[in-house]
Amino acid sequence: MPNALAANDRPAAPPFTARMTSPPPDQPASAASEAVGDAVADRLSALARFTDEPGRLTRLYLGPAHRAAADEVVRWMREAGMSALIDAAANVVGRYEGAAPDAPAFLLGSHIDSVRDAGRFDGPLGVLAAIAAVGDLARRGRRRPFAIEVVAFGDEEGIRFPTTLTGSMALAGRFDPRCLDDVDADGISHRDALIAFGCDPAGIPALARTGGRALAYLEAHIEQGPVLERRHLPLGIVSAINGVSRGAVEVTGGAGHAGTVPMDHRKDALAGAAEMVLAVEKAARSGVVATVGQLVVPEGAVNTVPGRVRFTYDVRSADDTRRRAAVAAVHENVAAIAARRGLAAAISRGHEGDAVPADARLSEVLARAVTRQGIEPLRLPSGAGHDAMAFHRVLPLAMLFVRCRGGISHNPAEFASPADIGFAVRTLIDVLETYEP
Ligand code: GLV
Ligand code: MN
Ligand code: MN
Repeated sequence: MPNALAANDRPAAPPFTARMTSPPPDQPASAASEAVGDAVADRLSALARFTDEPGRLTRLYLGPAHRAAADEVVRWMREAGMSALIDAAANVVGRYEGAAPDAPAFLLGSHIDSVRDAGRFDGPLGVLAAIAAVGDLARRGRRRPFAIEVVAFGDEEGIRFPTTLTGSMALAGRFDPRCLDDVDADGISHRDALIAFGCDPAGIPALARTGGRALAYLEAHIEQGPVLERRHLPLGIVSAINGVSRGAVEVTGGAGHAGTVPMDHRKDALAGAAEMVLAVEKAARSGVVATVGQLVVPEGAVNTVPGRVRFTYDVRSADDTRRRAAVAAVHENVAAIAARRGLAAAISRGHEGDAVPADARLSEVLARAVTRQGIEPLRLPSGAGHDAMAFHRVLPLAMLFVRCRGGISHNPAEFASPADIGFAVRTLIDVLETYEP
């Protein structure tokens, strides 16, 4: 596996400050947390070596780097005192038994797939912080009345297939087997990719943590936004996760010679798509964000009028009605632009997820744990999507946000300090110690 990032090239700790409600008496909390967070930060650097692209971190769902990273996570889970395996949906699952065997599980999770040219914290931070928290319980021989399962999901970014969150959906009992027929950009089906990874898709229905097998789901994740940094807070508690609609548009015109086809005879798919991209941008309004993150001209050449273009859209909001209205406006405008320009535009809908509120009781347990770290328990919404969404109406869910530098994410400059990661680990330990089913 090519080395994208050396284990020790982690940036120096930034000059973060923490607004504390009550610093512990013996030593500054940030120093104690930094020691806890250092070990996790080292593992984040180690995991970042597993990449599909030399020189930068790209770990796509079910790719070779995902497989190698999953094997490493299995090793770390076992080292922390858990039994561990890779399940039929390519989730890495570590289990730490409760006081009695086969007790229902408290789930802690996040993901280990990444976007292209990613940072090392989006996803892995939640997985590795959870492993560290369980490792702490195991070292102390502490057992709770419930089991604890740590899950490293593999399909959170949703950039390989049209669907996403399929690993977490499997655990939530909401896996839609039709997604197995989806194909990636190379024509490889989701089913074949799972099988090549070593998974048996027939085993997916049995993964559901429904029917009393699980109690709750908690995810730690970097904030991916600037709120905590501005408020000088290392941690925050997610109030709700914004809903999302994704889709793709295939625009077909007529390819032609760039030198000979007169302008008024053209059916230029790219010029039409350019107007459509602006229509997506215009569909954003107060409380709604709308993005075209990918646009390809498959047969594009400098001397050819583009005949075919494909682009994606991603529309998000905390308000499902507004999100749906914005998507409807995108679809109407795409059709109108295509009709006016004599183009064909085929829209295929992708991942759809409504806004998801966090569970009030579990969030309160989390807020108390944050407060016990001496940190003001700020509640804030999540603009990004997370595996936690899959458990909506299935399990009580909550999320812990960790401050990240400049709010930067989906970017190699992504950074969370060891001290803040340490606060997150200590908070997870506190929740595991104080949660009552
Ligand atoms: C994941 O990062 C998403 O919100 O798209
Ligand atoms: Mn993420
Ligand atoms: Mn992400």
